[in-house]
Amino acid sequence: MYRIRLATVADVVFLAEVTLAATRAQGRLAADFDEPAWLAGFETWSRESIEDPATDLYVVEVDGSRAGRLRVSRTPEAVELNGIQLHPDIQNRGIGTAIITALQSEAARYGVPLKLNVERDNPNARRLYERLGFTKTGEDGAEDVMQWSKAAEQNRLWNADVAQRYDTPGDGMFSADVLGPTVERLAGLADGGRALEFAIGTGRVAVPLSEYGVPVSGIELSDAMLEQLRTKADAETIPVVSGDMATARVPGEFTLVYLVYNTISNLLTQEEQVACFRNAARHLSPGGRFVIELWVPELRRLPPSLPATVGVADPGYILLDTYDVLKQHVVSHHFHFGEGTEAQLFRSPHRYIWPAELDLMAQLAGFTLESRHADWTNTEFTADSPSHISVYRLPPT
Ligand SMILES: C[S@@+](CC[C@H](N)C(=O)[O-])C[C@H]1O[C@@H](n2cnc3c(N)ncnc32)[C@H](O)[C@@H]1O
Repeated sequence: MYRIRLATVADVVFLAEVTLAATRAQGRLAADFDEPAWLAGFETWSRESIEDPATDLYVVEVDGSRAGRLRVSRTPEAVELNGIQLHPDIQNRGIGTAIITALQSEAARYGVPLKLNVERDNPNARRLYERLGFTKTGEDGAEDVMQWSKAAEQNRLWNADVAQRYDTPGDGMFSADVLGPTVERLAGLADGGRALEFAIGTGRVAVPLSEYGVPVSGIELSDAMLEQLRTKADAETIPVVSGDMATARVPGEFTLVYLVYNTISNLLTQEEQVACFRNAARHLSPGGRFVIELWVPELRRLPPSLPATVGVADPGYILLDTYDVLKQHVVSHHFHFGEGTEAQLFRSPHRYIWPAELDLMAQLAGFTLESRHADWTNTEFTADSPSHISVYRLPPT
């Protein structure tokens, strides 16, 4: 649909013109605006930006024609979106969103925030940035400074309120029926070595696994979930690195890395999911295992023209999943309610993965599939299994 390429001096007139066209379409030009002087100044500035090693100036091409301007600066501390202007003819086609989403993925890959400034008199741009998860972090003259980071996004999603309600001791995913077989199987797969849980959360599995005698470490992005874990186990018993499971490094070597309760799907791009496999591999000793618990996407249950499935309809709890099959995304809507008419809603976005795609990700990171079962008690995995426990293994040497 679109591509971006670095600008050259041959583009400076176009860059000034497209910026002017975009600004004019927003109705943001002053009455006494001096167009020739502005165009000349912008062309000079574009020439300087092309020469400037601290910033990258791009042309956005749509259907092979120049259609926009993009300027990005990258430092070890942040990716900065310094400007994006699209010609009015190609606006509202999702191109701006796609470019910013790609920059969010890039920032996530390097573990840094994506920053930008937005003029206070440009509410449309501000709405777009807010929709994409940016929040205001300061002011800079007539502009607001906004920032997005994966950690901030996860902290918003897995906030103190959610973290406090997450644990349901003895019930649901915390029942002995679920946790008993989980812990026993993981302990066997750790094979006497140390285990690392990606996205350890409040320690639902890590705490009983550690009590079972397996040394467990963790990675977790939400401060609130980690705080909840700390009410049950201190940092000496279960050390946790605060960071992204696709990139963060935990000291030491492990015989087992595990990522349960569908959480690989919290990484919203294929690139991040592959990075997560690679991150598991680099924590493991030869012959080490990476265990994933994941649901099988329910596309067969989608009725024609209605992209949603009801996963659970219990008294007091309804789970509704809405699918975007083009992006391979699903949003889970968890409704909790009591006797009255009020309900509490928790929504989480996911990228769903077929078992075959998961195996290919594993292969890219050097793993082979050792086993796949329908549950923790090694029930056979069939075409009708709703989820799977997949065990991937590195070569022994
Ligand atoms: C469904 S909970 C699972 C927690 C725990 N593993 C369990 O089984 O109860 C998902 C957790 O993943 C964490 N998380 C999501 N994305 C993450 C990421 N990229 N890196 C680390 N943790 C992440 C969330 O903060 C949350 O604590």
